[in-house]
Amino acid sequence: MSTDDTNKHSIALVGGTGPEGKGLATRFSIAGHTVTIGSRDPARGVEIAEELNSKLEILGQSFVPVQGDSNEHAVTNSAIVIVTVPYSGHRATLESLSHLLDGKIVIDTVVPVYFEKGPRPVEVSEGSATEEAAAILQNSNVIGAFHNLSAEVLMEPALSLDSDVLVTGGGDAKQVAIELVRDINGARPVDAGPLRYSRFVEGITILLIGINSRYKSHSGIVISGLE
Ligand SMILES: NC(=O)c1ccc[n+]([C@@H]2O[C@H](COP(=O)([O-])OP(=O)(O)OC[C@H]3O[C@@H](n4cnc5c(N)ncnc54)[C@H](OP(=O)(O)O)[C@@H]3O)[C@@H](O)[C@H]2O)c1
Repeated sequence: MSTDDTNKHSIALVGGTGPEGKGLATRFSIAGHTVTIGSRDPARGVEIAEELNSKLEILGQSFVPVQGDSNEHAVTNSAIVIVTVPYSGHRATLESLSHLLDGKIVIDTVVPVYFEKGPRPVEVSEGSATEEAAAILQNSNVIGAFHNLSAEVLMEPALSLDSDVLVTGGGDAKQVAIELVRDINGARPVDAGPLRYSRFVEGITILLIGINSRYKSHSGIVISGLE
């Protein structure tokens, strides 16, 4: 599953120009992966990639320079694709890219949430955004991960996450996702079972958004009692 013998991967972030995509791109470029920020507007992808590279250079971090491109080119040139679009664009984005995602590992971070006097869950007919992705992308290896990590903390490489990352799905792709979690300072992967449990993982984020609003925090989760 690795793109080479050193466990360094080519990673595309679909909708990578938002906080979650920028945060994951920051951490994975520091870990030595080749990251491409995808966007509906390739110029925007390049602009955000340059912004991240300048920030990491100023911080004196060692990193692999981030690239920017269209979502389509980012996906085509990467073995692992992380989806970081809002839920409102989830289905249409995956349907439009599905032919390019065949055979790839697709890690979904998307939380089906809308805001009306606070965060509220969107009912997804497949049960969760991750299961919706798996239903659309029948020839991809779909995994759920990173839903409960604060983008604000991810974007600050000096900060340790001190959080667990619940990973859903199966097969070799899940192990690849688990190793990617280990590449983030202070993030611990937890095998949360098959894709059908994704709805609970995604739902936790809705709680965290409310908690963060009340406590002015960037909280995450830690599962106690694990070795
Ligand atoms: N923010 C967090 O702390 C956090 C934490 C955990 C999980 N998540 C999940 O991660 C995902 C991204 O979060 P975010 O805060 O980074 O989101 P965001 O800023 O709202 O959106 C990310 C990017 O998605 C693209 N986009 C927006 N609307 C779209 C549409 N209708 N169709 C296709 N692409 C669209 C935009 O990029 P272009 O205009 O450049 O194409 C935008 O910059 C969400 O699903 C969220 O639930 C976020």
